Amino acid sequence: MAGTDGAPILKLGTDDAIAGLALSTEAHWNQTDEDWRIFLREGIVFGIRDHMRLVATAALLPYSGNNAWISMVLVSGTHRRRGLATRLVDTCLETARQNGLTSWLDATPDGAAVYGPLGFTPTLQLRRLKLARPGRAEAPPSPSATLEALAARDRRATGFDRTALLSAFAQRAGSRIVTANGAIALVRDGRTARHIGPLLADNAAAALVLVDEITRSETNLLLLDAVAPQSAFLDGLTASGWTIERPFQRMRFGPATVAAEELPFAVAGPEFG
Ligand SMILES: CC(C)(COP(=O)(O)OP(=O)(O)OC[C@H]1O[C@@H](n2cnc3c(N)ncnc32)[C@H](O)[C@@H]1OP(=O)(O)O)[C@@H](O)C(=O)NCCC(=O)NCCS
Repeated sequence: MAGTDGAPILKLGTDDAIAGLALSTEAHWNQTDEDWRIFLREGIVFGIRDHMRLVATAALLPYSGNNAWISMVLVSGTHRRRGLATRLVDTCLETARQNGLTSWLDATPDGAAVYGPLGFTPTLQLRRLKLARPGRAEAPPSPSATLEALAARDRRATGFDRTALLSAFAQRAGSRIVTANGAIALVRDGRTARHIGPLLADNAAAALVLVDEITRSETNLLLLDAVAPQSAFLDGLTASGWTIERPFQRMRFGPATVAAEELPFAVAGPEFG
């Protein structure tokens, strides 16, 4: 019998950041120790241990307007297909239900196989894109914009007030908020790649100009999570060397409670929406 059969679901604390990071690193995800600390500090992270080792996690991050983001659903390769993810996501959903929250998530294809049967319904499609070799930095960074401007635009696109989250990102070493032609984006460090997002713009041309400016002033591997219905943006990225790594399916459990006024071009990341 596996050591996790009937193992209790635990609430994790900030001391578990390193063990959580080991799970996301095993899955080749881009989260850093600082990302895990956001979930452990601002959200509720459930986990299952096999003896002393953390082998499975799922996090619920509360957002404004009775919403919550579910993410960091991770099960170590040694413990998959034993129902651990299902138990943990069910626990997140029960917590959301008790607090009257609508739950959202961005699912990998493997994750969507778990969430569909639990009652999540698909909404928006996303695409993870990668630019393997931005090359040498040859342009000065785009002008920087304020956190207030980014948070206000992000709110129009998501319906959530994420000032605290965006502020935490912006305060990290290496983060920058950049703008050009009315487009605005945040660039931050990940474990193995720099991440562009959220990215908000009036049209695909402005979004592409900003990505190009960012690309020409960066030297590391870059990632962004594009909103698939922004097809002219996606086409422009692939034409300039970005490759599609994987799809994500946005899913919702519970009633829609937010009305977004504009569609983003890239999101903050599947773990944050
Ligand atoms: C996705 C993941 C969390 C699933 O964890 P898990 O504990 O193995 O999932 P469960 O045992 O609860 O699976 C429940 C059901 O989902 C489906 N399922 C789970 N993983 C699947 C896969 N890789 N392919 C197809 N169906 C899958 C199956 O129907 C499964 O039921 P079954 O085993 O009785 O057939 C795990 O594979 C993982 O950590 N993957 C890498 C990270 C990731 O993609 N996380 C999801 C982010 S949205």
